Amino acid sequence: MNYFDQVSEAAAFLRSRISPPSATFAPCIGIVLGSGLGAVADAITEPAVVPYAEIPHFPQSTVEGHSGCIVAGQLAGVPVVVMQGRVHFYEGYTPLQVTFPMRVLGALGLRAVILTNAAGGIEEGYRVGQLVALSDHINFMGWNPLTGPNEPRFGFTPDAGLRFFDMTEAYSKRFRDFAKEAASGEGFSLKEGVYLATPGPCFETPAEVRAFRGLGATLVGMSTVPETIVARHMGLEVLGISCVTNLAAGLGKTQLNHEEVFEAGRQVEQRLAGLLKRLAPKISAALCSDVKTEKKQ
Ligand code: HPA
Repeated sequence: MNYFDQVSEAAAFLRSRISPPSATFAPCIGIVLGSGLGAVADAITEPAVVPYAEIPHFPQSTVEGHSGCIVAGQLAGVPVVVMQGRVHFYEGYTPLQVTFPMRVLGALGLRAVILTNAAGGIEEGYRVGQLVALSDHINFMGWNPLTGPNEPRFGFTPDAGLRFFDMTEAYSKRFRDFAKEAASGEGFSLKEGVYLATPGPCFETPAEVRAFRGLGATLVGMSTVPETIVARHMGLEVLGISCVTNLAAGLGKTQLNHEEVFEAGRQVEQRLAGLLKRLAPKISAALCSDVKTEKKQ
């Protein structure tokens, strides 16, 4: 079975498990929860939980702190499909496997995704536990998930599914503005940052961190960028949110380890849940008004 058919089969299976078969389920928001951030899914009401292991062709996360379930339900009254945990290139998955779940979210008919991750802070002044909205990224993975023949059937919106496409606004400006509004409603300010993705799995050397800062990165991590690339290929609008779980190598006083990253994620997940609860209705309203405008045209 080819990749497109595998994605379609996984989406059909998920649809049968999580949504009433009606158009009222859309527009719906996809949310990917990164390391230590999985408990945000507890804020979902009327949840339908589907373990990745049950979904045909779906890759399984092997990382501690990534639970490996889809949780579909309502977040502040907005339909959402939440991925609790993701798979990474460093686990040995291929670029197509790493981005398979994002393809499935696209095939479900979602128009928007919020990608969260744990990241090392490179910019002076970032604090551990801070949330940062991504304004852009640098793909330092050494590969691109779109390498190979283009599959135009992944274009789920008009003008998507192209071989060559624009990445000027990989991360939606309007979603970022909504996120800033939502953060101030929650009593904190949300900075913007540029996320650089490495293949991992080891953390960076201090010299690499200095080099990345010189390239314009303010955050470093091991995920998100491949997902953003395929989401944009499918025509989905993306919001990226990093949780600064540690200062990047050479900038803090302690050595880096996964437990620290995981623990910092745990400490910020309530704040992230609060932010997402305020944000979801704003994004949903914008998507609904897009749909109305499209219908009029
Ligand atoms: N580097 C890379 N990935 C990360 C880091 C880091 O410092 N922290 C959390 N994920």
